[in-house]
Amino acid sequence: MIHVRQAIILLMTLWLRHIRCADSAHRPNIVLMIADDLGYGDIGCFGNTTLRTPNIDKLAQEGAKMTQHLTTASVCTPSRAALLTGRYGIRSGKWHLGLHEERYGDFKMHPLNQGFDRFYGFLGTNMKDFGNEGDRVILDLRPTWYGQLITLWLCVVIPLACMYKANFASLPVVVIVSLVWSIPLVMVYWTLDNFKFLNSMLYRDHKIVEQPIHLPDLTHRLVQESVEFMEESAKEGKPFFLYLAWSHTHTFLATAKEFEGKSRHGRYGDAVEELDWGVGKILEALDRLSIENNTLVYFTSDNGGHLEEKGVNGEVDGGYNGILLGGKTHGGVDGGIRVPGIISWPGHIPKNTTTDEPTSLMDFYNMVVMATGAAPPENVTLDSEDILPLLNGITSVSPHEFLFHYCGDEIHAVRCRPRTGFKTYKLVFKMPEYLPGTNQCQFVCGCHSARVLEKPLLFDVTSDPGEKSPLPSSYPGYSDILEAIKEAVAKHKSSIVPVESQFTARNLIWRPLWQDCCNYPKCSCSDPKYA
Ligand SMILES: *[C@@H]1O[C@H](CO)[C@@H](O)[C@H](O)[C@H]1NC(C)=O
Ligand SMILES: *[C@@H]1O[C@H](CO)[C@@H](O)[C@H](O)[C@H]1NC(C)=O
Ligand SMILES: *[C@@H]1O[C@H](CO)[C@@H](O)[C@H](O)[C@H]1NC(C)=O
Ligand SMILES: *[C@@H]1O[C@H](CO)[C@@H](O)[C@H](O)[C@H]1NC(C)=O
Repeated sequence: MIHVRQAIILLMTLWLRHIRCADSAHRPNIVLMIADDLGYGDIGCFGNTTLRTPNIDKLAQEGAKMTQHLTTASVCTPSRAALLTGRYGIRSGKWHLGLHEERYGDFKMHPLNQGFDRFYGFLGTNMKDFGNEGDRVILDLRPTWYGQLITLWLCVVIPLACMYKANFASLPVVVIVSLVWSIPLVMVYWTLDNFKFLNSMLYRDHKIVEQPIHLPDLTHRLVQESVEFMEESAKEGKPFFLYLAWSHTHTFLATAKEFEGKSRHGRYGDAVEELDWGVGKILEALDRLSIENNTLVYFTSDNGGHLEEKGVNGEVDGGYNGILLGGKTHGGVDGGIRVPGIISWPGHIPKNTTTDEPTSLMDFYNMVVMATGAAPPENVTLDSEDILPLLNGITSVSPHEFLFHYCGDEIHAVRCRPRTGFKTYKLVFKMPEYLPGTNQCQFVCGCHSARVLEKPLLFDVTSDPGEKSPLPSSYPGYSDILEAIKEAVAKHKSSIVPVESQFTARNLIWRPLWQDCCNYPKCSCSDPKYA
């Protein structure tokens, strides 16, 4: 369907059941909650003292807080693909769920065709264009966008006018060529100026139930749909898997009235506090249904806060990554990939524990396989590790000796946790090309435009989490660490089976014939359940 912003396509709410395994009575329920673009420093138990997140903090007290929890990418699609598959995004040909693959109506990429039994949510992404403030993603990427389009138009029309003046072309020719040249430009302008009309739609299973999405009450509805599903499953005595992908805290930021203006950090803060409320409602339902002791709950974010994200009046609309460097889209810097991670599983993970060792979003896959007694697929390379011994104190060393920090299909940095000692190191090959004197880019930092460091920089992220002071080559063990990382990268690369690139023109282009719309030609409807 709409591939225009493929890099941030996300899922809202999905349900997966039928995990193969033995004794259903003992299988735990699984609740996976993922926030969108939530920063490392936005949550109380991760050090934020000015936003109120009592429910997420309580979840951490019920289980484990992972302070060095890493995504596999600093943008959402490859990060979410890795979460669902337990493998680096580079191994998967498709990073997103969505709609069709080969032809309109095949629904091959739809969640219901990927193992989920029910779906409620959107198949693309939330966007600042979905608000009513005239804000446009394209204007953040290219502030002079309209001027560029007009210039492009004039580049053809002015020479034509000169040719007419010099009697090289007749008036009808000049007019017709000018008009023909206007068509593609008007189409491009219209498409990029109408993201809300083209992308803001909510689905229940295969059907659009709302267009455009009414964002202020979306969090309430996600909660209600999730609670109803948990209630039904509990009543039937069936273990369930709930994938609750919050639209918070991605722009466009809208909350219900009761959260508007209530936080100390504008509408971004309001969104965090509403997100926390939603998490609380889910936990409350588990309690009410008396299934909290048999439910594994995981909360995390798909990538770091988006530092460059501003509203039309310059208000901060992106998250806060604390002391970490950079943020979303910045490739391998920690602000883009180190996110809040909390996991609770009564009876298996001790209450109120903290691990500072490196863990990955991919590890959730392993946890689900173990918890449900499912058999992992035999023919695929998994990058997911068993972190349970770390969380319940059987070991104090992360199972990840190396973690590869990708930007698109390139490794920008590698983390290394030697098997002895207590330190974690990070070797950086490429850095974002920041605007002079800042730690930010023009809205997003591209992967291929990143700066290749002449000499890779090694950081001790245990004592220097902000990646401020690279270690000198005289540091004890320096060359051994570099050598070990070099070997690990070579080994990792040799395990990658090439797949189709995500970024071919064929994959990225908008297909007007696949465009969905409800009540054609009105392209407008509201979910009757919430009318
Ligand atoms: C808490 O989060 C807000 C919103 O991201 C941020 O502006 C603020 O600086 C954070 N406060 C602290 C004390 O970390
Ligand atoms: C869940 O476990 C806690 C602590 O072990 C216990 O106090 C509580 O009663 C249990 N709840 C249910 C519904 O079994
Ligand atoms: C949880 O642990 C923290 C620090 O380790 C401690 O300050 C706090 O009192 C503990 N909370 C509970 C409810 O045990
Ligand atoms: C693994 O095997 C299954 C079942 O035979 C197949 O459906 C799947 O495509 C295979 N996956 C890969 C990555 O080869």
